[in-house]
Amino acid sequence: MINQYYRTIVFIIFTSMIATGQNEEKIEKKIDSILSQLTLKEKVAMCHAQSKFSTPGVPRLGIPELWMSDGPHGVRAEINWDDWGYANWTNDSITAFPALTCLASTFNPNLAKAYGVSVGEEARYRKKDVLLGPGVNIYRTPLNGRNFEYMGEDPYLASKLVVPYIQGVQKNGVAACVKHYVLNNQEKWRDHINVEVSDRALHEIYLPAFKASVQEAKVWSIMSAYNKFRDQYCSHNELLINKILKTDWGFDGAVITDWGAAHDTYEAAMYGLDIEMGTGTDGLGVTTANHYDYYFLASPFLKLLKSGNVEEAVVNDKVRRILRLMYRTSMNPNRSFGRMNNKEHHDVARKVATEGIVLLKNENQCFPIADTADITIAVIGENATRSLTKGGGSSELKPKFEISPLEGLKKRFKNAKIIHAMGYASGPSAYDKVLPSEWDADSLKKEAINVAKEANLVLFFGGLNKSHLQDCEGDDRRAFELPFGQGALLQDIAAVNNNIGMILLTGNAVDMPWIDQVNGLIQGWYLGTMGGAALADVISGDVNPSGKLPFSFPAKLKDNAAHYFGELSYPGDGVNQYYKEDILVGYRWHDTKKIPPLFAFGEGLSYTSFDLSNFKIDKKSYSNGEQITVSGEVSNTGEVSGAEVIQVYIGKQKSKVKRALKELKGFKKVVVENGMTASVNIVVDVNSLAFYDADIADWNLEKGKYVMHIGNASNRISQTIKFEIK
Ligand code: GLC
Repeated sequence: MINQYYRTIVFIIFTSMIATGQNEEKIEKKIDSILSQLTLKEKVAMCHAQSKFSTPGVPRLGIPELWMSDGPHGVRAEINWDDWGYANWTNDSITAFPALTCLASTFNPNLAKAYGVSVGEEARYRKKDVLLGPGVNIYRTPLNGRNFEYMGEDPYLASKLVVPYIQGVQKNGVAACVKHYVLNNQEKWRDHINVEVSDRALHEIYLPAFKASVQEAKVWSIMSAYNKFRDQYCSHNELLINKILKTDWGFDGAVITDWGAAHDTYEAAMYGLDIEMGTGTDGLGVTTANHYDYYFLASPFLKLLKSGNVEEAVVNDKVRRILRLMYRTSMNPNRSFGRMNNKEHHDVARKVATEGIVLLKNENQCFPIADTADITIAVIGENATRSLTKGGGSSELKPKFEISPLEGLKKRFKNAKIIHAMGYASGPSAYDKVLPSEWDADSLKKEAINVAKEANLVLFFGGLNKSHLQDCEGDDRRAFELPFGQGALLQDIAAVNNNIGMILLTGNAVDMPWIDQVNGLIQGWYLGTMGGAALADVISGDVNPSGKLPFSFPAKLKDNAAHYFGELSYPGDGVNQYYKEDILVGYRWHDTKKIPPLFAFGEGLSYTSFDLSNFKIDKKSYSNGEQITVSGEVSNTGEVSGAEVIQVYIGKQKSKVKRALKELKGFKKVVVENGMTASVNIVVDVNSLAFYDADIADWNLEKGKYVMHIGNASNRISQTIKFEIK
């Protein structure tokens, strides 16, 4: 009986693989036939925008337009046909999911899949064919305005989470568009800065998440970055697109520019660009009506083709890729209808938020807080009430609703007395300027101190707010410390109440001179629609936090690798910038240079405690192509159930090349009931230990001795195991 069952399963899988193969073959034949019917003008028209967020189909042949929309955390409100203004529709309010930094903090690939499926359903329901996300640029500096949209400083973590996210989105017949390919690791001078970085760092740090998106997730589109790499714009870059992406990795989808990132017709034709979006052609970099015909891949491209200087095969390859994208999306007869603002999506948003929130400090039993009538809680800070789904740039959202931290706390803490004071105020949210606050800072401070005096406990909701220069696209932060006088306010409050729980809502690390003044510290991210509910879940103990930092928090800015090497390293000299830290990004830098961070990559506390023990590997030595099976036990030695993230780092001893002390090569999140012990198994591919050898332009698995470091944070290693590669 059982055998029959398995035989049936195998048959189904096998036939479905053949069906997919046949299906792809059928589609290629259809594409051939369409190509043979298209005029040159129609082919060229498909390679560039017809509006702010769409490209034309071919009405004559019944080929529909292709519609795109931001963004990584939810479907952006409808934008006008010809300019960046919002169309002010009344039916485009959606679910705002937590920022991807929060998703990364969950260390939970299953949640990443659920996130992708949900945001993909909303994009499908809003009739968008391409969702312009996720972003996986690496966290190199804590000042980068868009770190909140990305997945942290480690390429392995980003790769493991971006793949299920993309698979989830594309299950809906909506293309993900992984971005920004590549080296867009800051916002300052993003539209022209030329990044110089070694082959080794490019392949080991900055490319892996894109490579996994292409080779494992089979992403259907990719967005090129604004900046240059080795003096060639990323949007038409022979090495990055023709060689690495399309030849080496076998990418069969479409390369779409970032908006306004194309700069030259011949280069765009020859160096791999397929769809040009967002170009401003009146010389001022802003769009004018009916300028689409003057795009680089519009009439200038048509002229180039007619001149014979560029083969028609060049435009045929672009159109083939675009038609393939359409058959997977706008011309895919089997795709679902999608849905939005439904309970399942809210539940996913809440779960990603509660699992991504990171408890960094918890002394004097600060957290969790019991909901008792005899406690007065002072909720202080603008971020307790300010909408954080607004702002940030292109990932800005118009949610159906957004639960603020204050609302979440009031709903959950029915018995406690909760008093709110703004404490500090920033100006209204703006993309490209700092607007002054209309509040008087002194009176806000006085009111907050009075409220704090009367309370048993202060919950300070501070951080950044996705306004210009504060975690926002288009520019970087100018300073590492918290803005709007929060640091000084915190000191004043500490003078009247020494029981403070700090909740930071940011997408970046910040300076914490006040860390000793607070009993508890929660890194709260930008949590979206369900944010306040999720924060109340964790603050009340309804949910035991299990988030782990996806990037290091340096004690001071100079301790960060990019800033250690000065101006030419970050932000560059306005023309070039040099990634002098090379492969030593983030914890790789802190570990190897022995510069301890304030809080480390992979760090996060729980309301319970865990004990890791008896970890071992299955052999003493391995050869390439094999897998290392790591097994051990995690005991929950505390009072409440919780989840722990076991992290496996590996380093090479006496390597012939420069190496980081250790690098993340495996992780597993396990839920353990209090008093119980769970066994955990993690598999590491031996080939993932190779370094990128520029001399042979390939990966090189060095033989010899290696050390495995097993722990629950990059700075909390409980066991090391030696092994060899023969
Ligand atoms: C923006 C962003 C990109 C976004 C695009 C469309 O400049 O860099 O991430 O998807 O333009 O809004």
